[in-house]
Amino acid sequence: MSDTEYPFFFTWTAQKSARPIELTGGQGAWFTTADGGRWLDLGALSYQVNAGHGNRRIIDAVKRQADSLCLASPSTVFPAKVALAEKLLALAGPGFSKVFFCLSGAEANENAMKIARQVTRRMKMMSRYRSYHGASMGALTLTGDWRRPPFEPGIPGVVHVPDCYCDRCPFGKELSSCKRECATHMGEVMKLEGGGFAGVILEPVPGANGVLVPPAEYWPIVRAACDADGALLIADEVLTGFGRTGRAFGFQHWGATPDIIPCAKGLASGYQPIGAVIVHERVAKHFDDQMLACGLTYYGHPTGCAAALETLQVYEDEGMYDNAARLGPVLYDELHLVARRLEPVSGMRTFVRGLGLLAALEVEGAPAAAWTKLGQELAARKLSLHVDGKRGTAIFAPPLCITELELIAGIRSFGDAAAAAFGGT
Ligand SMILES: Cc1ncc(COP(=O)(O)O)c(C=O)c1O
Repeated sequence: MSDTEYPFFFTWTAQKSARPIELTGGQGAWFTTADGGRWLDLGALSYQVNAGHGNRRIIDAVKRQADSLCLASPSTVFPAKVALAEKLLALAGPGFSKVFFCLSGAEANENAMKIARQVTRRMKMMSRYRSYHGASMGALTLTGDWRRPPFEPGIPGVVHVPDCYCDRCPFGKELSSCKRECATHMGEVMKLEGGGFAGVILEPVPGANGVLVPPAEYWPIVRAACDADGALLIADEVLTGFGRTGRAFGFQHWGATPDIIPCAKGLASGYQPIGAVIVHERVAKHFDDQMLACGLTYYGHPTGCAAALETLQVYEDEGMYDNAARLGPVLYDELHLVARRLEPVSGMRTFVRGLGLLAALEVEGAPAAAWTKLGQELAARKLSLHVDGKRGTAIFAPPLCITELELIAGIRSFGDAAAAAFGGT
């Protein structure tokens, strides 16, 4: 079947440009395809397969739930829903008291924004340019990257600010001497806009936009700016949540607690569609007496809750967050070696960034054809990762169960592909 003959749309692509692969299954850090291929998954498919492919415990948990209770409605309760909420609150840390369930990252962000607007009785939201928060209209308006402009003007009341992009500081500073202008600027913009923000939504580490790891002071400064204005701080943990950065949640690296935590992807590792919004007690208590004007037919779906509950137990039992923390430095060291192989190519510059098992190699100055060639070289080596030639990044986010040997072999093979595509040694 040619790509245009499939009776469904492929996402974020012209249909004639789609290059689908037929997935048949997988195990651990590997997935298999109908043509007999076995790929090393250095991107966790769409950043969601944190627990790895073919996890029997999660599959069996879904089956058991389907056999006992396969459908429910938002107003019903059952053990997996209660246990999952309790587990999420424990992971988020002291002070978090309620969970709102949904099906995806975009929905989690939509509902986080609605909760912030209801509680503060304000409308304005702040987010960053190099961000992705989802493809629904509200989440897309919060999004700052290339996916937003085609749908402008979007929803009213959203202000975007520059990023924490230390390799190309939007304020022209060096990290060693800057005053963290990227963070202090947010408070200044709040004042210039007349204050009164409902919320500020940030990815702890912007993922798909290049893994922009902030310095330690960034989140505490933003937290203080939110407090000064009375705005709620929303940590979009859809991509960074559940061990991706080596801790349960990305915000936990920096000692600044958000008010609301939307999450999805790694929550059930992709075995079922489920998202959640974890809400701090100081926000949640508003709804003790006021109506929560949010709701979804499939809120807290039984098989989603069961998959997520088992996934979180798998992370814990198999020490996957620790594995991500331990292998992070291995990943960056290997990427630095790749960068060194590309250095001799004149006119090209490289940057390596990362936290836990989330890392980027940025290549500046490579022609578009080299990025196309990189895609072909990776396919020939059966390596799956997130390559964005327009923005010059290759992003790595392998399943957290990957072994050190698999990781090293994978990045070295990536290095061969990169040298073949960009030139270099
Ligand atoms: C940080 C972040 N937020 C939200 C989303 C949207 O999640 P979903 O595709 O599940 O709607 C994504 C998806 O990539 C994401 O990376």
